[in-house]
Amino acid sequence: METGKIIQIFAESGFMVDPGALDILKTGNSPELIQRVLRSIDSSVLVVEAEHIRNAPFATPEKAGTTSLKIPIVETPSMFSSGNSGQGDNTPQLLTVPSVTVLKDISNQSTCIGEYTDFVGYFKDRYTLLGDLLRKRISARPVESLNKRNMDTREPLSVIGMVLDKRTTANGHRLIEVEDSTGTIPVLVHKEKDKELFELAGSLLMDEVIGVTGTLSGDGSLMFANSIIRPDIPNTQKISLERENARGKAVFISDIHVGSKTFLEDAWLRFVDWLGDDIDYLIIAGDVVDGIGIFPGQDRELAILDIYQQYAKAAEYLNAVPKHIKMIISPGNHDAVRQAEPQPCFPERITRLFRSDITFVGNPAMVDIGSVKVLIYHGRSMDDIIAGTHGFSYGDPAKPMASMLRFRHLSPIYGGRVSIAPEKKDHFVIDPVPDILHCGHVHTVGVSRYKNVLTINSGTWQSQTEFQKRMNLQPMPAKATVVDLASMEYRINSFD
Ligand SMILES: [Fe+2]
Repeated sequence: METGKIIQIFAESGFMVDPGALDILKTGNSPELIQRVLRSIDSSVLVVEAEHIRNAPFATPEKAGTTSLKIPIVETPSMFSSGNSGQGDNTPQLLTVPSVTVLKDISNQSTCIGEYTDFVGYFKDRYTLLGDLLRKRISARPVESLNKRNMDTREPLSVIGMVLDKRTTANGHRLIEVEDSTGTIPVLVHKEKDKELFELAGSLLMDEVIGVTGTLSGDGSLMFANSIIRPDIPNTQKISLERENARGKAVFISDIHVGSKTFLEDAWLRFVDWLGDDIDYLIIAGDVVDGIGIFPGQDRELAILDIYQQYAKAAEYLNAVPKHIKMIISPGNHDAVRQAEPQPCFPERITRLFRSDITFVGNPAMVDIGSVKVLIYHGRSMDDIIAGTHGFSYGDPAKPMASMLRFRHLSPIYGGRVSIAPEKKDHFVIDPVPDILHCGHVHTVGVSRYKNVLTINSGTWQSQTEFQKRMNLQPMPAKATVVDLASMEYRINSFD
């Protein structure tokens, strides 16, 4: 194994490795040896030395005081070998039956009518949930209290608010207007004071909730920012005890678009044929079918013109997935549920076409698979996040997905491409922090890690459409991302 990989594995568990130890680890059966060393070593050790390796026992009993950090299992050639040939390889067998638990889902819980008061309630809930996350890090005061006279304007103070407006002043500074439930205040970010802060201010999106620390102008009507923080996810997201027991392999796909002339049937059949004994879960993040009337002239691109026949065909494809694989299906903007998000799961008229063991959830939804929390969101908000952020593009979906985790919100902008239904609860707030964030929608593939969250955009099973040709969008079709839930190692498999 490469030196860099060994160092990285130990660093992820909080250890450094000295050169003598490295020499031993590079030879022999490294993955197995590394695991033994990590299991046996005391958490008070800073630098792993040759002696620690020589003392690492061959058995792996749980030892009092040993580190409870993640023990990465290193990817081996057999780990992701194709499925149907799975019998006979060295893939560890699942110790428990794969199970799916739905942790969060809008389905059957929608309460809103869409009146003004619903919107007020919705945004209050967003502010409360994200504000509470920020209050763990800053002590904020209500905006209305800042306008009082006789305040000491030299002392820094903090507010938590939603971004109501942002613009650049005539002198090139940024002016952000933030609002809480008591009032609004403009915040000036000086172009020459702090480059990082100035860039952060430029990347703010409308309606995201932020914390601002700064000083006030003499009359208390303007704030000069010293720092801006986002709710974000913790730097050291703890691996839960349950996660340590995670088992199994999950495959992540999205945007199948059955019914479209550009659906790649041959690639799809190769994929289903590949799904073997070592795969436990198949998770689909929306756009199961191409739908009808989604954009003008779509009928010219459809092979199946009836929406129910599209689902009947999709059911035929998915019902052929090996029976032992637990499937979870969430809708997207091409599917036959309401367009406003959060979207509920498919109605019974559609689900009855499919195998009865499939778990249908809404969009977004949080599920637990084999003790790993997966947040599934089709990802329509990426249209707004990419359009609103300098340097973001459809070719690199990992960036907008990391932004979602920084916002702790899947779809902050109101009034963009996403129609947000004003539910009582803001279902887009990311809490708890998932182990995996899975999106689709953009038809490009990007798998990355943001802090300890694996972010997966799983691409599509549709070749370039006429619309994508006009927009010069290049899809990355026929890919499936496989994740080993114990190690969180992943591989992107191609079927084109
Ligand atoms: Fe799609």
